[in-house]
Formats: sequence, structure tokens, C-alpha cells
Amino acid sequence: MTSIQLLDKRFVPFITEEMLEQRISEIATKLNEQLVDKKPLFLAILNGSFLFAADLFRKIDVDAEITFVKLASYQGTKSTGQVLTTIGLDRSLADRHLVLVEDIIDSGKTMHDFLPQLHAQGIASLTIVSLLTKPEAIRYSLPIDIVGFEIDNRFVVGYGLDYDGFGRNIPCIYQLAEED
Ligand code: IMP
Ligand code: MG
Repeated sequence: MTSIQLLDKRFVPFITEEMLEQRISEIATKLNEQLVDKKPLFLAILNGSFLFAADLFRKIDVDAEITFVKLASYQGTKSTGQVLTTIGLDRSLADRHLVLVEDIIDSGKTMHDFLPQLHAQGIASLTIVSLLTKPEAIRYSLPIDIVGFEIDNRFVVGYGLDYDGFGRNIPCIYQLAEED
């Protein structure tokens, strides 16, 4: 197995390009069936989901739009704790059938904090799609509709996912090596 080095850590191959391609086709087929005549708006969460969103969206064959949002959490004052800011959500979501596209749901906190903003806009329906989930790590109950792969609680990179900014351009997914 050919491992790779990113900064100070070693990673081993985990999910191949072929597995990604195959699973994304299955997800697209399901969405194409569910979204007929709904003119869905895909909302991809940057940065991590950019490759997944692109590959998924090109397989969508119903009339659909896509837009992108960046979520940044920063430490607020002691009393407010973590604050989630949303960059790029500059259009009305009212009455839209929304498909939220995420690369990975880990604790679920990001998604949990973001969902009220969507519901506040009076969306018609919400479908949450995440390429990866880590069932052992999840701390919030979330209505995740479609999961590409459920993985164990180990750090992964590639296919849009990064380790300290690096590794996003790797075409498949690598997992942190055991001994690290
Ligand atoms: P959550 O809020 O704990 O669900 O974290 C979600 C975000 O953490 C994802 O959108 C990723 O940006 C990042 N993340 C979580 N796990 C990993 C991983 O294994 N590799 C790379 N990024 C990750
Ligand atoms: Mg992300």
C-alpha cells in the first residue's frame, strides 16, 4: 500500500476513485428520482465539498441550480461561545427544495448550527447529502438523508478534504496511518 506524506503526517489509501465514482452515481440516481419537477437548489458547503459537489451535480439530470456557501466558526466573547458566520448566502431560499451538499459530518456541530438559518427562510424541503459520516463521532441528531460512506473515527484527506489546507487535490481519499 503506497502511503503519502502531508506535512508531518502519513496517510494510507482508503476510498478509491472508482469507489467514489460508483457511489456518487448511485446518489445522483436517487436524487434524480426524488427531485423530478422540483427545480432543486443545491447548496454546497465550501471548501471541503467542492469536488464532491461538482462530480455529483454533473450527474444530476433534472432542472437544478447550484450555489455555494462558506461557513466559518470563530470564538466569540466568553458569553456567546462559538459563533457561526455564513458567507455567500445572498439569495432567497423561500419555497425552494434544497439539497445541502457536505463533504463530511464529524461531530455534526457545523450542520446543527447552520440548519436554523435555512429553516428560518421558509424552505419547501431539505435533503442533506454528506459524502462521509463518522458515526462514532456524531454528537448531534441530524436528519441526514443520504450518506456516501460511513467511516470509522479516523482523520481523512483528499477529494476536497484537507489536512491544514493540504491534500484537497488528491483524487481519492486517504486515511491517517495507524501508528500516527
Ligand atoms: P463537524 O462540525 O464536527 O461535523 O465538522 C465538520 C467539518 O470538520 C467538516 O466540514 C470538515 O471541514 C472538518 N472535518 C471533520 N473531520 C474531518 C476529516 O477527517 N478530515 C478533514 N476534515 C474533517
Ligand atoms: Mg466541510
